[in-house]
Amino acid sequence: MHPLCIRFCALRRVNPSRDSGAGVIFTVAIDGPAAAGKGTIGRAIAARFGFAHLDTGLLYRAVGAKGGDPVQAAQSLTPGDLARDDLRTLAAGQAASVVAVDPEVRAALIAFQRRFARADGGAVLDGRDIGTVICPEAEVKLYVTASAETRAHRRWLEVGGDEARVLSDVVERDRRDSERAEAPLKRAADAHVIDTSALSAEAAVAVAVGLVEAALARGRG
Ligand code: CDP
Repeated sequence: MHPLCIRFCALRRVNPSRDSGAGVIFTVAIDGPAAAGKGTIGRAIAARFGFAHLDTGLLYRAVGAKGGDPVQAAQSLTPGDLARDDLRTLAAGQAASVVAVDPEVRAALIAFQRRFARADGGAVLDGRDIGTVICPEAEVKLYVTASAETRAHRRWLEVGGDEARVLSDVVERDRRDSERAEAPLKRAADAHVIDTSALSAEAAVAVAVGLVEAALARGRG
């Protein structure tokens, strides 16, 4: 079993804040290009419905940051690797998208993500291939996007530096993520598109919450 599975699955069983979702298998899959606001929406949905949240980009960022053989790094990733404080930098994002091209790296991380997605209590995962590869059976699929300029501006507010460089970083990563052969970034046919270019974070979250509420109500009805 992957080392991340041992720790995360144990945490899920004992986390009292997730009692409200117990007994529910329900997955919200969020995909989209770099810095589109997937994390903001994912965290808000998890908090609102008591679901567990996994930022799958962090897995690839941690593999890229570890250095050495990326396949070995992916196979031995630990919760400590995900807690490094240098994973949100532009360099870590680029390194992530380079290792993410490797099918063996992706294969090493699939079982953990699938298990997380279908564990008891509900889950939200955000990334590039959640609705297409990790959990095609997800009850709700969202494809969160925005213009490259809007996304780059938001990322620049977080990381600072030269805004033009942030834009070229975002565009380069989107290209690499969309053009790779294995699990490329693409919208699942049944995903709801949320274009956040002209939406505040609150408005984008409200749209997503409405879609999850509707799916939960259909499941009950
Ligand atoms: O936060 P941001 O959208 O900029 O990126 P991220 O979600 O942290 O992902 C970093 C990189 O990891 C992406 O550019 C992808 O190359 C890769 N990734 C992936 O291939 N598959 C995923 N499910 C998540 C991330």
